[in-house]
Amino acid sequence: MTEFIPFSKPIIGEAEKVAVLQVLDSGWLTSGPVSEQFARKFADMIGDRPAIAVSNATAALFLALRAAGIGSGDEVITSDYTFAATANVIVACGASPVLVDVTLPHLRLDVELVEAAITPRTRAIMPIHMAGHPDDMDALRAIAAARGLLIIEDAAHGIGASYRGAPVGSFGDWSAFSCYANKNMTTGEGGILIASEENLDIARLFANHGIRKTLTGRIDGSNPYYEVVVAGLKFNMPSMSAAVGLAQLERLVDMQNNRNNIARRYDATLGALSGIRLPSVAAEVMHGWHLYMLELDPALIDCERGRFIEELRAGGIGTSIHFTPISSQPFYRDARLHTRGKSVAKSVAANIFSIPMHGGLLQEEADRVVEVIGETLHKHRR
Ligand SMILES: Cc1ncc(COP(=O)(O)O)c(C=O)c1O
Repeated sequence: MTEFIPFSKPIIGEAEKVAVLQVLDSGWLTSGPVSEQFARKFADMIGDRPAIAVSNATAALFLALRAAGIGSGDEVITSDYTFAATANVIVACGASPVLVDVTLPHLRLDVELVEAAITPRTRAIMPIHMAGHPDDMDALRAIAAARGLLIIEDAAHGIGASYRGAPVGSFGDWSAFSCYANKNMTTGEGGILIASEENLDIARLFANHGIRKTLTGRIDGSNPYYEVVVAGLKFNMPSMSAAVGLAQLERLVDMQNNRNNIARRYDATLGALSGIRLPSVAAEVMHGWHLYMLELDPALIDCERGRFIEELRAGGIGTSIHFTPISSQPFYRDARLHTRGKSVAKSVAANIFSIPMHGGLLQEEADRVVEVIGETLHKHRR
């Protein structure tokens, strides 16, 4: 029997295992020099600003909002087409998410709708870089500058992506990356927050109970006292995760090249099939290929998405769904939604699914994915 091809898979080798064992043997498990080194190396890849390593991207986004002083009575404009975390962190800070529809074909924030959504309470715009395709950062930055708003980049999908030659994560006042298990590089769970040194100092406080000094002094006994200066929480990255991250950074170029090659192969082979729409890439960007999303065309294919992906699964192909729009989630049905005519996010989301894409996917596996998709499309052609 042919082996099941999962939608995503972390690529873990000897280097990651050795690095974790070294940390375990070192006796220093919580945040420390290894997590600082990981944050520094990650930050170097993005630009000249520093970073902190935290528990996940959700925490990084939450820290950005809290450290920026965004809270009750404030509004943050973000995409309706995103994962729950983006909107949930805004609510968790006591602010209101204002959801804006996306444009086709890149599922970017609709810039005109962003402008229309601004009120005196708006504090920030949060672009998503869906699937690894950068948002229209020139337009969003121009709006933010003209209206005195912050940009908080949800760069959870953004590793390996760039816009007009500059990496995703270099555009926001704050930028948050995810190192979750299915991301372009992983620490199992993890996140990176990039900002100015001054802003990161505030975020560090919120990430460690509002305590002003490092953990070291409390553990070696050199300074056992501590002062809580804000009501922070705890979001630091442990050294074991950071050690995995450092080893992953060493293989990131190879894993990213593989994603790019697989995307090119999919483009060429799936492009020959009818009944599906392929992702398209704006001229000014480099796609990070976190996800490769296909949209079924109901005008040509007589099979609803749920059944289609079930048949792919029976054929040995794993898929996933990214995403159910925020405004369709029960909790968010009352949120302010800015959309023009029919909701693009809702109509795209009904037919979209992500196919296998990861740093170790083989070309033969990609070809098998295409073969099974082709057979399934053929079976359901109108
Ligand atoms: C767009 C987006 N933002 C934020 C997150 C949260 O990332 P994490 O799981 O690292 O908290 C995700 C998760 O994948 C995401 O897809």
